[in-house]
Amino acid sequence: MKAIIETSRLILREFTLDDVNSLARVLSDAETMRFYPARFDRGGVEDWISRNIRRYAKYGFGLWAAVLKSSGELIGDCGLTVQNLEGIDEVEIGYHTRRDLWGQGLATEAARGCRDFGFQRLTAPRLISIIRPENLASRRVAEKNGMRVAKEVLWANLPHLVYAIPRNAAGLAGRLHRPGAWTEETIKAERSSRGDRENLLLGSPGKPPTGNSRSGNAIETKPNPQADRDPLATSIRYMANWRQTRRVAR
Ligand SMILES: CC(C)(COP(=O)(O)OP(=O)(O)OC[C@H]1O[C@@H](n2cnc3c(N)ncnc32)[C@H](O)[C@@H]1OP(=O)(O)O)[C@@H](O)C(=O)NCCC(=O)NCCS
Repeated sequence: MKAIIETSRLILREFTLDDVNSLARVLSDAETMRFYPARFDRGGVEDWISRNIRRYAKYGFGLWAAVLKSSGELIGDCGLTVQNLEGIDEVEIGYHTRRDLWGQGLATEAARGCRDFGFQRLTAPRLISIIRPENLASRRVAEKNGMRVAKEVLWANLPHLVYAIPRNAAGLAGRLHRPGAWTEETIKAERSSRGDRENLLLGSPGKPPTGNSRSGNAIETKPNPQADRDPLATSIRYMANWRQTRRVAR
């Protein structure tokens, strides 16, 4: 079982099919799954894990098992998945927490770990979370993760909010977190200027990321500026794009 991210209370590690029973306590719970078409039966949970195992092989990331360090219990999932949103591949942060542990900040802690991992290890210009408007707890987690609503979309035939945080927002949040700062046009421009639209992962696609290790292969979720390709250039590009967007909008 490969550990990927370590936070103060959690380890995020890759799922294996041995996790079916523990994950079923989360994904088979009707209240937890009320924003999904249905709660998952055992086969659904197995498919969920298998899909993520395939994602690890293809991208080097996926939804990971969230394990409490204090007890070793699997208490949910959190991670990164590629979602094709209106024709553009984006990286989404997703999360589910076991219901008896809601409200303790665990999803936020895991999501922040994934956000830091995403910006340290992937080339994605922004990270998103796609959330039903009525899912207030999930929206709150996204906000605490530094995200703001970027747009509304129809997703699986239902209205959803796209929460987003652009790369390097941690240092620039006050200036860049505002509507229009990361429109689809700026994302497309960013991608075509990079010329590597398909290669979201820094390093070889499919190769698991490597990095500073404290617990197995887990990374600590502290900022690692060296892992960013050129943070300053990216920030300058975002500012330029944002100014241009503002000019167009006026
Ligand atoms: C969304 C979810 C993962 C949050 O897990 P969690 O571990 O309880 O999250 P946190 O404790 O980090 O934060 C939850 C926040 O939502 C708030 N919240 C919970 N229910 C709320 C409600 N009905 N209205 C407004 N805020 C709410 C909490 O108060 C907390 O915010 P605060 O810290 O400002 O008080 C959990 O509710 C869940 O598993 N939901 C079902 C699965 C799901 O919807 N996943 C997201 C799919 S987009």
